[in-house]
Amino acid sequence: MRIVVGISGASGAIFGIKILESLHELGVETYLIISDWAKATINLETNYSLKEVESLATVVHSKNNLAASVSSGSFRVDGMIIAPCSMKTLASIRVGFSDNLISRTADVMLKEHKKLILLTRETPLNTIHLENMLALSQMGVVILPPTPAFYNNPSCIDDVVNHIVARTLDQLDIENDLTKRWESKLKTINF
Ligand SMILES: Cc1cc2nc3c(=O)[nH]c(=O)nc-3n(C[C@H](O)[C@H](O)[C@H](O)COP(=O)(O)O)c2cc1C
Repeated sequence: MRIVVGISGASGAIFGIKILESLHELGVETYLIISDWAKATINLETNYSLKEVESLATVVHSKNNLAASVSSGSFRVDGMIIAPCSMKTLASIRVGFSDNLISRTADVMLKEHKKLILLTRETPLNTIHLENMLALSQMGVVILPPTPAFYNNPSCIDDVVNHIVARTLDQLDIENDLTKRWESKLKTINF
């Protein structure tokens, strides 16, 4: 299996890193593209060096290299995850702007009808953000904001992150046991 992973400059670089780590452990071939501002958030928000993040991927492409393999629909991949996805990258994909290799590859996913999963991160959301997400959702894109779940009683940030990573891999039907699956503990319902 071949998956493209884009990390853009929204808060939550750890989501992209943990997705890469999991795909690496599961033996999935990954093609990594990191935006300039993602390099800043990796530095600001995590203890990972850029080199450590890049070492998790099978292939690393510069975001400026529009001649990279993944820039062409003739290069076969199974899908793309952008984690986290900034509102700028979201907007660029929505209008087909293809201004760097992340948005170009996302454009290729759309034209080739491949799975595209966006971990969109901003809060609060303005009308532009919402409209862009709606338009892409209507084109078949999976909009997966990395919002925490509490029904599995997370006890640390790792639990919260792993839950989002698991739900992301679920979208690609990649088997994983990163999180507890929902099993109802409710014995009775009093309404
Ligand atoms: C620490 C930090 C946190 C940011 N968080 C967000 C965010 O959560 N969502 C977002 O859309 N932009 C966020 N930004 C702004 C983006 O980095 C900026 O819009 C940038 O142009 C995105 O470019 P890219 O999508 O090519 O990475 C953040 C910037 C910094 C420095």
